[in-house]
Order: sequence, then C-alpha cells, then structure tokens
Amino acid sequence: MLRNLILRAQKKRLLVRPRVIVCVPSGITEVEKRAVRDSALHAGSREVYLISEPVAAAIGADLPIDEACGNMVMDIGGGTSEIAVISLSHIVVHNSIRVGGDKIDTDIISYLRKKNNLHVGLQTAEKIKMAIGSAYPLKQELSMDVRGRDIVSGYPVTIKITSEEIREAISETVTAMIDAIKRLFERTAPELSADIAERGIFLTGGGALLKGLDEKIRKTVDLPVHVVPDPLECVVKGAGKVLDDLDRYRQVLIKRIED
Ligand SMILES: Nc1ncnc2c1ncn2[C@@H]1O[C@H](COP(=O)(O)OP(=O)(O)OP(=O)(O)O)[C@@H](O)[C@H]1O
Ligand SMILES: [Mg+2]
Repeated sequence: MLRNLILRAQKKRLLVRPRVIVCVPSGITEVEKRAVRDSALHAGSREVYLISEPVAAAIGADLPIDEACGNMVMDIGGGTSEIAVISLSHIVVHNSIRVGGDKIDTDIISYLRKKNNLHVGLQTAEKIKMAIGSAYPLKQELSMDVRGRDIVSGYPVTIKITSEEIREAISETVTAMIDAIKRLFERTAPELSADIAERGIFLTGGGALLKGLDEKIRKTVDLPVHVVPDPLECVVKGAGKVLDDLDRYRQVLIKRIED
C-alpha cells in the first residue's frame, strides 16, 4: 500500500527515492516506530521521518507550537481520539482513547436495533451520524428517513429517526471523549492549563465535524473550544509543511532511538 501511495505522490520523479513523513499516534512504542520506519524504507523511501499526529495537526492548523505557551489539540479520528498539550515544539502530556467516529457509528447501530428493532449497516449509520448526529441540542432539530431491516419480520422498512434520538444513542461516547480531556487537565502543569484556559482547545480530525461537539465540550469544561478549518485535512497539511521546511521543523520530529 505504501509503495503504491509513494508512486502516486511522485508521478514525475520516478528515479529519485523520496523523503517520506509518516504521522503516528503519540502513544506509539519503540517497536512500532521501527516497524513503521522499516515499512516505509522497504516501500522505496530514501529517508523516513515520523511525527505525532497531534503535532502535525497543530502545525496544519497554524498553532504557535514552538512558543513557550500551552496548546491543546484533540484529534478525533475513526478508531482513536488523541489529546495532547504541546509547548516548545514538544508534546508535554497526552492521552489517547480507543474511541472515535467508528464507535459513534456502532452506537447508532445498537440503538436502532434496541429501540426500533431496526437493523442498519455501518455505512448507513455513518450517513445518519453526518446528517443528523449531534452532541448538543440543535437550534433546529433534524430528522431523516432511515431504511433498514426489521429485526422481527425480516422485511425492509423505513423509519423516521430524529436528531434527539441519535444524540441519546451517542451520548456515552461523547462523555468518554470529554472525560479524556478532564483527565489530561489533571496531569497538566498549572501554567500550561492557564494558557489553555485562555486560548482554548482546538478540535481536529473528522470527528470534530460532529454537530455541536464543540458546544458540548465548551459547556462541560467551561473553556473556549475551536474546530480548526479543514479538520479532516490538517494532519496531512501539517505533515506537508514539515517536509517542505525540515530545517525549521526538525525539533518536532520524533527522535530515533538509534541516533
Ligand atoms: N461531517 C461529519 N460528521 C461527523 N463525523 C464525521 C464527519 N465527517 C467525517 N466524520 C468521521 O470522522 C472519522 C474519520 O476522521 P479522520 O479522517 O480524521 O480519521 P483517521 O485519521 O482516518 O482515523 P485515526 O486518526 O483514528 O487513524 C470517521 O469516523 C467519519 O465518520
Ligand atoms: Mg487521524
């Protein structure tokens, strides 16, 4: 897969083995780091650099991570949500939970099965999430017709589902995400916490697009919360910026243990 992606990325310069940057979760182990690096080398790269996803996201979102202030970034992906406090180009504390957008999809499936005797697949669940899913009451609540299979009769049926129902379905997962923020604050030095209280928490990753998630976090932890522009793309944008200007960003790269 990596070889294919590398080929696609360098259509014109086939003879030059490229430099590659790989974004990895902040909790990655040394063994995993080596595995990632070896895979990228085998796939045809000349040099491989690793960077933590939250750091790449922060750079992609233009946060001043090289300054002495604290920046809190929460990256909500499919399988995991990661929160990190970054200061002076380094992650000071981080927390990672194995809950993200995919868990919200399965929450919706279980809820519809239990409450409506309706069986829907993952793709439908994701569509429902994007269309009417929300973490906080909406100004105008939404509804949609959902097609699925009636669990009792086995026949296809269409049922109207509301945003209130979906909010209830996913509330536990949303709470788990917010708890992870609270736990990270317990481990953050007071000076950095004060910076974050002033500047706010920055949400990135596809999960940041869930309607009302920023509002829900704002109301629960009583701090400013911002969704970065282009949350789905800011990790890759940040990685690109680092690769374009390695001298400036060398500090933020994950150091090799062999060095
Ligand atoms: N508009 C939206 N509303 C709610 N969720 C969304 C929206 N758009 C995308 N998502 C969800 O965002 C998740 C994907 O986000 P992202 O691309 O950041 O994850 P990833 O980086 O691939 O995953 P990971 O970081 O866990 O490896 C999916 O669960 C997807 O359903
Ligand atoms: Mg991600």
